[in-house]
Amino acid sequence: MESGTHREPEDAEHAGITLKFLTENDLNRLFETHLEIVQTLPHPHLLRPDTKEFMAAHITQRGRTLGAFAGDRLVGYTVLSFPMRDADNLGSSAGLSTDEQLRVAHFDGSGIIKQYRGRHIHRFMNEIRTRYAACTGYTHLMATCSPMNFYSLKSLMAAGFQVIDFIVKYGGMDRLVVYRNLLRPFFGHEGNATHHVGIRDCGALKAAIDEKRLGLALGEKHGETTIVFTEANTARNL
Ligand SMILES: CC(C)(COP(=O)(O)OP(=O)(O)OC[C@H]1O[C@@H](n2cnc3c(N)ncnc32)[C@H](O)[C@@H]1OP(=O)(O)O)[C@@H](O)C(=O)NCCC(=O)NCCS
Repeated sequence: MESGTHREPEDAEHAGITLKFLTENDLNRLFETHLEIVQTLPHPHLLRPDTKEFMAAHITQRGRTLGAFAGDRLVGYTVLSFPMRDADNLGSSAGLSTDEQLRVAHFDGSGIIKQYRGRHIHRFMNEIRTRYAACTGYTHLMATCSPMNFYSLKSLMAAGFQVIDFIVKYGGMDRLVVYRNLLRPFFGHEGNATHHVGIRDCGALKAAIDEKRLGLALGEKHGETTIVFTEANTARNL
């Protein structure tokens, strides 16, 4: 750069994309964007279909929703929710007491329309969700993710989440439960995490959880994508 000139850092991936927290005025286009994403999924279990009421509640009351705009077009969104004492609080999967569960925030759904995927918009929005939660006192971040949803899982693991549970939710959808404790990050044992489980092998994923293993990273074995788990009996040391 020439001395004396000032230029904004260039970031081709995000060029032309603006992020903002949505308001009630954005509800209709948020729902339209959500429907477009749901209707073009390669498998219906990849993303939970949500109602307009759910989306309205997560703009101002039970959570916040961040939108990604290309010009005036809403091309993606991501929801951060605060379940408090609601029955869907995932905190029990992490063994949190009912009081600690009040500090749980959920990454509660995201979508980017097809033409804008792979540009790290979701990754960047995850960073903002994390900071928003931290700034508002929610120190336990949790989410569910279909084991078939490679890109979503990749993004969550890149955001520091670890696999702690396997459940069936939303009327029969397999879901990994992922967790990140902002106050007590889990760094230990990564060298001992050598137990690969294929992401499509739900039986083996369940077995790994039952053995109290913790899923630390995505891996690859024999050409198949895997979750790399710790040795048995480490998951409760979160
Ligand atoms: C999952 C989803 C939200 C990811 O959004 P995104 O903005 O494309 O994600 P990112 O670009 O941040 O992706 C993270 C990683 O996955 C890669 N990736 C994501 N989508 C990709 C695609 N379609 N093709 C190639 N790579 C892709 C990114 O390149 C990045 O990897 P890298 O760091 O090695 O480059 C998006 O694919 C989507 O809307 N899917 C359908 C709905 C859904 O599954 N929602 C999530 C359920 S909660």
